[in-house]
Amino acid sequence: MDNTKLYIVMVGLPARGKSTIASKLKENLGKNNIKTRIFNNGDLRRKLSPQNTSYSEFYDPRNRHGVELREKIALINMKRAKEYLKRTGHVAILDATNVSLKRRKKITKLLTDHVILFIECINDDEEILKANIDRKVAHPEFNHLGKEAAIESFKQRINFYQTIYTPIEKKANFIKLDSLYNKILQEEISEDIPYYDRVRDFLVTDTVKNLFLIRHGETYFNLQNRIGGNSRLTIDGKVQAEALAQFFKNKKIPIIFTSKKKRTVQTAFPIKRLQDNCVIIPLKEFNEINSGICENMSYEEIRRKMPRVYLARKENKYSYIYPKGEGYNTMKERIDRGIKKALYLSSNPQNIMIIGHRAVNRMILSHFLYRRKEDVPYIYVPQDKFYHIVATQDKKLFQLKKYRL
Ligand code: F6P
Repeated sequence: MDNTKLYIVMVGLPARGKSTIASKLKENLGKNNIKTRIFNNGDLRRKLSPQNTSYSEFYDPRNRHGVELREKIALINMKRAKEYLKRTGHVAILDATNVSLKRRKKITKLLTDHVILFIECINDDEEILKANIDRKVAHPEFNHLGKEAAIESFKQRINFYQTIYTPIEKKANFIKLDSLYNKILQEEISEDIPYYDRVRDFLVTDTVKNLFLIRHGETYFNLQNRIGGNSRLTIDGKVQAEALAQFFKNKKIPIIFTSKKKRTVQTAFPIKRLQDNCVIIPLKEFNEINSGICENMSYEEIRRKMPRVYLARKENKYSYIYPKGEGYNTMKERIDRGIKKALYLSSNPQNIMIIGHRAVNRMILSHFLYRRKEDVPYIYVPQDKFYHIVATQDKKLFQLKKYRL
């Protein structure tokens, strides 16, 4: 066997992030001159089938016509992948559900010329699944259905796949991946797999090509040095939001992630207005630190009225937890979850934007840029600049930039 060539076979139920991983992987390998091509069964089905195949019954394992057509498509892609590796390609990615044992047996029987690595994507997070299905049904093949009917149909499709789903068996070379948390749940590698270190490392790395991390514009609470709450933007805050919109108008921003607080959503509005196709997705994970009994107070009031709270926090700001509230320490889990959600929901875009808060943005920055814990609560997060973050396997960049030129 030529050990510079590799088949990667994606496995998993629909809407588990397989295609996103495949496309990111292709891009990553390509940058390193490893010629990679994706063979996606869904795309081929849409191309080859004259009639609409989006209806759920098409995926019923008892529907002979559907099964035959899907198996035919799978076979064409296997043959094309084989041909590709025979010629110039290094890595062929078979991107399909491949959840049945029968299908995987076919693959291993036909693709004997090079080693196969199976990557099984698992993620049962309801909220993520819902968001992913919403995205799937925006595909033109669902145009003939209303949104609700399309969602139901897609869920039914997943149910059909569930009935034939056999998780990866131990004898294969495989990685079981939690595709939301980029966590390897299990792996078995019994052969020499080309590019394995690079692929594995890539799977567990959060990559962003361009992340624009912005703090909301000035609020009435900011003017009074008050913390927490749900204050609105001041006139100056609105001017900042407009300036941000101008600055980003020539960059394509498909999604703006915000918190659920008015000040971040208000900052996002003008930016969205100057974009062609942009949605705002507010995530509760990006809400500002909950300062419990100190919510709505100014730092000065806290110092006067609650000196013990004030001093204890000063003593160890990272670990301190506000009574009935949070600390930087306890925020970590939800912030990490927010980042994972944002990355997952955006697929593989050129640009991602997050509009957050001071403490939240410090935590997001520290997710990508290592800082000692005790320094995290002091990271500089101004309102008249934003952070441009690039974090890929080959490049790390953190730049604080002005948006008013
Ligand atoms: O802008 C004020 C604020 O976002 C508060 O809502 C929050 O409690 C604070 O900043 C977080 O910063 P620090 O941890 O430095 O108090």
